[in-house]
Amino acid sequence: MLRRALVTLVYLAPCFGKVYEDVSQLPGLSYDFVVVGGGTAGNVVENRLTENPDFTVLVLEAGVSNEGVIDSIVPFFVTNLLQPNIYEWNYTTVPQPGLNGRNVGNPRAHILGGCSTHNEMGYTRGSADDYDRFAAVTGDPGWSWDRLLPYFFKNEKWTPPVDQHDTRGQYNPAVHSTNGIDSVSLSGSNWPIFSRHIIEATKQLPNDWSFNLDMNSGKPLGLGWIQTTIGGGMRSSSATSYLGPEFIHRKNLHVLLHAQVSKLADASRANGKLSFGGVQFLQGGKFFTGKAANEIILSAGSVGTPGILMHSGIGDQAALTALKTPTLLDLPSVGQNATDQPSVGLGWTVNSTQTLDSISQNSTRFDEAFAEWNRSHTGPFSAIGTTHMAWLRLAPEELGSNGFTDQSAGPDSPHIEPGGFGAPPGSHSIAVWIVVLNPLSRGSVTINSSDPFESPVIDVGFLQSNIDVFTGREAIKKVLNFFKAPIWRDYIIAPIVDVENLTDDALDQFIRNSASAAFHLVGTAAMSAKGARYGVVDSDLRVKGVSRLRIIDASVFPFVPSSHTQAGTYAIAERGADLVKKAWA
Ligand SMILES: Cc1cc2nc3c(=O)[nH]c(=O)nc-3n(C[C@H](O)[C@H](O)[C@H](O)COP(=O)(O)OP(=O)(O)OC[C@H]3O[C@@H](n4cnc5c(N)ncnc54)[C@H](O)[C@@H]3O)c2cc1C
Ligand SMILES: *[C@@H]1O[C@H](CO)[C@@H](O)[C@H](O)[C@H]1NC(C)=O
Ligand SMILES: *[C@@H]1O[C@H](CO)[C@@H](O)[C@H](O)[C@H]1NC(C)=O
Ligand SMILES: *[C@@H]1O[C@H](CO)[C@@H](O)[C@H](O)[C@H]1NC(C)=O
Ligand SMILES: *[C@@H]1O[C@H](CO)[C@@H](O)[C@H](O)[C@H]1NC(C)=O
Ligand SMILES: *[C@@H]1O[C@H](CO)[C@@H](O)[C@H](O)[C@H]1NC(C)=O
Ligand SMILES: *[C@@H]1O[C@H](CO)[C@@H](O)[C@H](O)[C@H]1NC(C)=O
Ligand SMILES: *[C@@H]1O[C@H](CO)[C@@H](O)[C@H](O)[C@H]1NC(C)=O
Repeated sequence: MLRRALVTLVYLAPCFGKVYEDVSQLPGLSYDFVVVGGGTAGNVVENRLTENPDFTVLVLEAGVSNEGVIDSIVPFFVTNLLQPNIYEWNYTTVPQPGLNGRNVGNPRAHILGGCSTHNEMGYTRGSADDYDRFAAVTGDPGWSWDRLLPYFFKNEKWTPPVDQHDTRGQYNPAVHSTNGIDSVSLSGSNWPIFSRHIIEATKQLPNDWSFNLDMNSGKPLGLGWIQTTIGGGMRSSSATSYLGPEFIHRKNLHVLLHAQVSKLADASRANGKLSFGGVQFLQGGKFFTGKAANEIILSAGSVGTPGILMHSGIGDQAALTALKTPTLLDLPSVGQNATDQPSVGLGWTVNSTQTLDSISQNSTRFDEAFAEWNRSHTGPFSAIGTTHMAWLRLAPEELGSNGFTDQSAGPDSPHIEPGGFGAPPGSHSIAVWIVVLNPLSRGSVTINSSDPFESPVIDVGFLQSNIDVFTGREAIKKVLNFFKAPIWRDYIIAPIVDVENLTDDALDQFIRNSASAAFHLVGTAAMSAKGARYGVVDSDLRVKGVSRLRIIDASVFPFVPSSHTQAGTYAIAERGADLVKKAWA
């Protein structure tokens, strides 16, 4: 495919701000706070902490600069980043029994901004129920939807789409904020014929597929217009927003690239409680220690964070002993309960040339679209190609009569997402990605070597529980029904993957043979209530049994929300930063 074959262009990185390439450029190695990982959450934390001019902050990021990386800037190029390249950690999972022994990719960004620099930019918060469940399991009402909404708003900067189209009836301004930091917008380029059809289909099938004005209101059920972290026709990442020009020159903020943290350093005990004076990192073949007078904050993500904990001697004692790594704190939940969402794709050829492939596969139109974006940041390249998303529930009776217990967080929470309407795998075609949002199956992120520079072992544990397969199968049936609405009659030509008349067993095999990950891995350093017999951090994000060490990233989610995970990660990071600031005020 032309899109995939596009060579990644890297413009020369201009000299900018306080992002350093070499440790020798730093003013020193002692700071008030050291943040490990300049990713989605890490950049929120560093930005908010340095609002206080009395705090000095060092950020250690293993990856490279995001400056001038055109595949990250142009929304349309999103898929160019999802293959082995210098912006990737290149992880894969272990063979998955639930996927008939296949392994699946698990991309993680190795670039400033972390996954917000290479993700698919969908902005979905999840349901109010999801966060109310966080509050319930942690015993901290601060994680409830109502209390977290101001933090979603601190993050979000609602922005008009670049095509300046009339957005009335496409979102609800009351549930958005225009004065946050990270840009969010409706798509600045649409496929009018497809969009007309899909909105009409919501009228023809009002039960499952009712139109939802705004899926980010806390009540996501239904089908609505996609919202993405795009501003002015360009990707908005935590690097372009929270490290934007108005912040990066703060005298107290220091970001070091190419600095891979191996472990926590300078362990000591006071009043029986473990603490660490700094973190050890490698740059250019040499080890250094970044010292933190106040706190160390791990924001290395759902793979990096549990890895650093285990290499520091915090984890399951038996597993650490087997690797001859001395245990400083026996915390068996580290790396456990890893949760990602399995997903499968379906596609149809259509009677229309208003499809993404008619641009990506046609070099004339591709060049025109690139030139337009280059001139004015408008046109098809200002968007990801997807127009809508839907969030559906299975009926409780449907689950119950099959012996399953509802895994969702509550009655306003979806079980499945048929999303990505509009992005095709073939010629004149459309595609739908179907995501099982609340899988019961859990996996793990563990280490298999005492060498911190060896890749961790990632097991997403997909489809081990029958309810996850059942949910995927019912989701496929719902999507097939959707395209039976009368409006599609002259539009849909034929399925690309024909699953229409398969038996349930054959459908299950189709799911096991084709499912991949939604890339929403969370839960590997989960929050739990104070005193709980499991969990890694308390609800204030402090590592249980350790002082002056917090985790602020997607690994602390106690459950995966019924959505994608960047909006939730941003909100957790905003509140987490607030907790740190208040503790040291
Ligand atoms: C391909 C892909 C597509 C996605 N699409 C969407 C989407 O459309 N919508 C959505 O809401 N969510 C999406 N997600 C999920 C979402 O982007 C992530 O859940 C979220 O960004 C995670 O943020 P984080 O801060 O926990 O981790 P990250 O953003 O991954 O940040 C971790 C950072 O720490 C660095 N790091 C790791 N280890 C070390 C170390 N030892 N030393 C120093 N630095 C280290 C990493 O390089 C990285 O920069 C997607 C994810 C992926 C991978
Ligand atoms: C990922 O693979 C690419 C291509 O092989 C390589 O250039 C890059 O360095 C790898 N990433 C890491 C973090 O090793
Ligand atoms: C996984 O999470 C559940 C709660 O969802 C908890 O009961 C269990 O103890 C956790 N397991 C581990 C190993 O942390
Ligand atoms: C490619 O796009 C150009 C410009 O819109 C158009 O004239 C041409 O017919 C297209 N080619 C194909 C094979 O569709
Ligand atoms: C983008 O614009 C610059 C000049 O502003 C030009 O040099 C470059 O060739 C253009 N690229 C494309 C793909 O149009
Ligand atoms: C773990 O390490 C052992 C010894 O190096 C190796 O045989 C095994 O394949 C590794 N397992 C995984 C899942 O990487
Ligand atoms: C394609 O759509 C046109 C109208 O846009 C219609 O006249 C024609 O019959 C359709 N073709 C098929 C094969 O459905
Ligand atoms: C599925 O079966 C029905 C009823 O037998 C038939 O009308 C339909 O064409 C079949 N669909 C496909 C894609 O084969």
